[in-house]
Amino acid sequence: MNLSTGFTVAVLQENQQYALGRSMKKAVMIINKDFKKGKIDKRIYGSFVEHMGRVVYSGIYEPGHPTADEDGFRQDVLEKVKEMGVTAVRYPGGNFVSCYDWKDGVGPVKERPRRLEIAWRAIETNEIGTNEFMKWAEKAEIEPVFAVNLGTKGIENAVSFVEYCNIPQGTFYSDMRKSHGVENPYGIQTWCLGNEMDGDWQIGHKTAEEYGRLAQETAKAMKQVDSSIKVVSCGSSKSDMATYPEWEAITLNYTYDYVDYISLHQYYDGQDKGTPYFLAQSLDMERYIKTVIGTCDYVKAKKRSDKELYISFDEWGVWSMADVEVAAQVDKSPWQVAPNLSEQIYSMEDALLFASMLMNFLKYADRIKIACQSLLTNISAAIMTEKGGGIWVQPIFYPFSYTSRYGRGTVLEEVLDCPSYSCDLFREVPYVDSVTVYNEDEHEVVFFLINRSEEESVCFECELQGFEVEEIAEQVTMSCTDKKMTNLICHDAVKPHRVSGGQVKENRVACELEPLSWNMIRVKVRI
Ligand code: AHR
Repeated sequence: MNLSTGFTVAVLQENQQYALGRSMKKAVMIINKDFKKGKIDKRIYGSFVEHMGRVVYSGIYEPGHPTADEDGFRQDVLEKVKEMGVTAVRYPGGNFVSCYDWKDGVGPVKERPRRLEIAWRAIETNEIGTNEFMKWAEKAEIEPVFAVNLGTKGIENAVSFVEYCNIPQGTFYSDMRKSHGVENPYGIQTWCLGNEMDGDWQIGHKTAEEYGRLAQETAKAMKQVDSSIKVVSCGSSKSDMATYPEWEAITLNYTYDYVDYISLHQYYDGQDKGTPYFLAQSLDMERYIKTVIGTCDYVKAKKRSDKELYISFDEWGVWSMADVEVAAQVDKSPWQVAPNLSEQIYSMEDALLFASMLMNFLKYADRIKIACQSLLTNISAAIMTEKGGGIWVQPIFYPFSYTSRYGRGTVLEEVLDCPSYSCDLFREVPYVDSVTVYNEDEHEVVFFLINRSEEESVCFECELQGFEVEEIAEQVTMSCTDKKMTNLICHDAVKPHRVSGGQVKENRVACELEPLSWNMIRVKVRI
């Protein structure tokens, strides 16, 4: 396929670097205002607060900190959460939830038990529980996504939790909430049925058959308490689980009629850094998403159902360290409150893979309705805090915040002609990763683009069929001469900056994408 036009050549000639003789690849795209992929659900810009390491204690909560408010919440963190554009937060775990009793985290703080938290080898004081988290959620302006314990607990614990949170009054647990000073029910809408139940590391790990039956019965009972809630059936923990995608097929056979979403989790770890394979891993994620959609649709057909199942990609991220290093940290850690765990530092290269993963949620906007970047603070996080000290953001913060702010509206289908490379496991990796959003309210078409090439710039050109192009409102790029570059406190080295140079001719837009760069181009349009 060759979509090239003379316009690209003209842009190349005007480009100073081209004039200096540097080589450049070419990517040509066509979009059409009527070819729509799906509406973006704002909850794809979610995150995750787990009782793990310093995510809660000295992450979002640190009484005595100079910025702490009357409830002990760090306001510097709240500000960054808003700046990042986080819309939904999953709580309280994670592996943590599989050994958690929500009843430990309510009532007078002084009376709450200190527990051995065996998932992450810590002491849990229970100073923060449901009501404190919900207070924080209101301040952070996020929608809560709660998880129930299907590891060591079961139906009764899940049902009483919904009653405590969502029933107005006049029953044991709703009146208990009122006696804890919370007059009105929260009406929490989304509930995850356990966490990573396919993983043998999970406390109370189950076979697909065991989980399917338990999840079905738990979903049924929870919805009998509050029929307005939506529930999430556990899918696979990662794309290389031996049980994937059979896990989805078997569990959904039980849960399909009772649940609204299936979860997916995926982290890519840092062991392939520096190789062309590293950035290609978002293609593995795409294949994973497509397979799970296919499996949902297979079960739908088998059941002769009209119901569409959606995806909650409720844990995702890049690990800058390998999984084995994290496991070693947990094993060596003495029992203590909020141990320093997995506080990974991200580079420019990590941010590109992270951004590419985020773009996958937009590409499948028709089926992915929730996604939670994991975790919000300190562990594989965009927001880093010092205990008693400052706050800083990692390079991954920026693609997330720009995409959350401007990636709103409808995702458009793309036809892209772009050179590709091959590497282990992937035969055709396009140098340009792209997703295009039409924001009807703002009269904008927004392109999110990554150049995966380390050596060459790409000249990108797009024809916007069905639109009259007015102007480029903003062009932002994030790139670095050294892909290993990181940020630290007082050292914000990797961050985006505005660029000019993009050009408009009739209904076409063209610009240069620097080597190893993340880019956003907002184009004002009329229809
Ligand atoms: O890093 C977060 C942990 O990773 C979660 O507890 C678990 O669900 C996942 O394996």
